[in-house]
Amino acid sequence: MNPVDEGAAQARPAAQEIEPILVWHPKAEQYRSALTQRLPGVPIEVRTGAPRAPSPSEAGVLLGWALPPDAFAQLPRLRWMQATGAGVDDLLARADLPAGVTVTRSLGRFGAQTAEYVVGYLLHQLLHVEDYRRNQDRGTWKQLPRPLLADRTIGIVGLGSVGLAIAERLAAFGTTVYGVTRRGRPLPHVRNVYTRDDWRSMLPECDALVLAAPLTDATRRMIDDEALRALPDNAVLVNVGRGALVEPEAMLDALRDGHLSAAVLDVFETEPLPPDSPLWTEPGAWVTPHVAAPSEVDGIADEFAANYQRLLNGESLHNVVDRAQGY
Ligand code: GLV
Repeated sequence: MNPVDEGAAQARPAAQEIEPILVWHPKAEQYRSALTQRLPGVPIEVRTGAPRAPSPSEAGVLLGWALPPDAFAQLPRLRWMQATGAGVDDLLARADLPAGVTVTRSLGRFGAQTAEYVVGYLLHQLLHVEDYRRNQDRGTWKQLPRPLLADRTIGIVGLGSVGLAIAERLAAFGTTVYGVTRRGRPLPHVRNVYTRDDWRSMLPECDALVLAAPLTDATRRMIDDEALRALPDNAVLVNVGRGALVEPEAMLDALRDGHLSAAVLDVFETEPLPPDSPLWTEPGAWVTPHVAAPSEVDGIADEFAANYQRLLNGESLHNVVDRAQGY
């Protein structure tokens, strides 16, 4: 099993010589210039897609995302890979990812970005932005109810750096925040933290349910028909985690019969969302193309460079993925 941040002393590599870096990423050239500034003198090779023929690399360290299918077979010396995103479900699911490679993930500004996305869409609904626009187009003067986020109870599934940032912002508005984590330990800004055994008991109180959990065997399809029906009528679902956290048919049914008043969806089982998906035209669905928390080259380069320095110093790496847990 791979080391995790807490108590990873046994995983400490010895201090060592400069290690060549491979950046394998759609934005590899941008990362090259960002890393050259931060790690002068370190050899950096870049790849953007699949090379025409497999071509072995001498790099022991990889910074990457969305690697082509046979990528790891071309990296015989690889010891450490940092993903430029936070969710590593696709990476861990790869049969070619060698067991001995340490995987780290990036935190970026994903928490702040996602929190603004979530709060923005929730306020958009509470403020009746769409209704007033439509009424304006018709020349209609009509006042609608004006609840506050402080009147709402919102459940957050997954309280990692993203879920906690959402909780913090919502708590600042006075929202009652509930949350779900693996172990249910108390956390700031969260009134009650539930575990994977008792989380369904919070659902009847949740005016909105926000999904910010990693996709693992334990979380796949956890938002099933029973969970959706346990939410109050007119609840809002927001998915900024992974599409496969939700049973798609159950969600569509709950939208169509009005049990869910809206589903704000940034992530889908298949991305891009296929042209024939009913979600495109479902009035209660708000589809965005996986943009809640884009990776920003400079911030990720800072994180990676700091971790690289830790590697050279023989210190344990930050944000090591526990492969057994899946995040
Ligand atoms: C993107 O979804 C990520 O996991 O960073």
